Amino acid sequence: MGDIIRVDVPLGDRSYPVLVGAGARHQLASVLAATPLTARARRAAVVTQPGIGVDVDPGIGFETFTIPDGEQVKELATVGELCSGFARCGLTRRDVVVGVGGGVVTDVAGFAAAVYHRGIAVVHVATTLLGQIDAAVGGKTGVNLAEGKNLVGAFWQPAAVLCDTSVLDTLPERELRAGLGELAKYHFIDSPAAERWLAMTDGGDLGALGIDERVAACVDIKAEVVASDETESGRRALLNYGHTLGHALEIAGRFDLRHGEAVAIGLRYAAVVARLLGRIDDDRVAAHERVLEAYGLDGALPAGIDHDEIIELFGRDKKAADGITFVLDGPRGLEVVPGVDPGVLRRALEQM
Ligand code: GLY
Repeated sequence: MGDIIRVDVPLGDRSYPVLVGAGARHQLASVLAATPLTARARRAAVVTQPGIGVDVDPGIGFETFTIPDGEQVKELATVGELCSGFARCGLTRRDVVVGVGGGVVTDVAGFAAAVYHRGIAVVHVATTLLGQIDAAVGGKTGVNLAEGKNLVGAFWQPAAVLCDTSVLDTLPERELRAGLGELAKYHFIDSPAAERWLAMTDGGDLGALGIDERVAACVDIKAEVVASDETESGRRALLNYGHTLGHALEIAGRFDLRHGEAVAIGLRYAAVVARLLGRIDDDRVAAHERVLEAYGLDGALPAGIDHDEIIELFGRDKKAADGITFVLDGPRGLEVVPGVDPGVLRRALEQM
């Protein structure tokens, strides 16, 4: 086992550690025993998917609940089935749910833990890059409805998160690339944590870090943002940089894009929109393109995009309370910008 990097998510008496490194999952038993919220647990419900194939040992009696692969499983029925299973195996309020997987598992297992017995402890063992740098950290849990993605959920912070970077070696290349779009996003989030990690690199580039340090840097940046705005009344929305077009492309659904791939396109698009609005200059747009290139992401719009449909989807985005709302770069860094002119958004689509 290599060195494990510990990052804390500072939330007062709900603060928790995120352990990052090769073999971090093997610390599950000791973390459960050492964490006040889980130290008295006698049983664990391990929730995973067949495609994950990552073994864990909670060090206490446990039952494994395997939910089907795929995003379709992110529905209320799955949460109901899990909770029934928890009840059948006698899981009590002081026991623990352990989510082992990527964003689908951490969303579903986290939400089941949030509502079972009105909330029991959950620990995430994140097995995908996307899960490690985003989904498992920060307490967003939830499921989709037929009417839209993530419409039902809860903020339910985990008691601990384990990011075992050795399991990333076994990820299919596409799954890894999907995480890289989300990783690219962190290059643009202004935070003291980012400064700290950048100071550790020669060229002032997060990309120069090794994978453990890079995952830890993203977790640290996210931890800081979440600590400053846990329930997204302001700054946390900046973590949605690149997501407005990204979500629209995912919802339009005909482009076979993974979430992170869609976010990569959304990052480039957000830069083009900010340029058209005079918020940033050409160099800054080029900086976005360089970051995407560094991760092997081209950020190009898929062929056959219907611009009208995309603009319409922007208007239906969850953030669109005061007209079409984007997170945009500018002289003061990223900001949430409401009321973005659809004409500008259309021109930006044409320029992609
Ligand atoms: N994935 C964005 C957030 O957790 O706020």
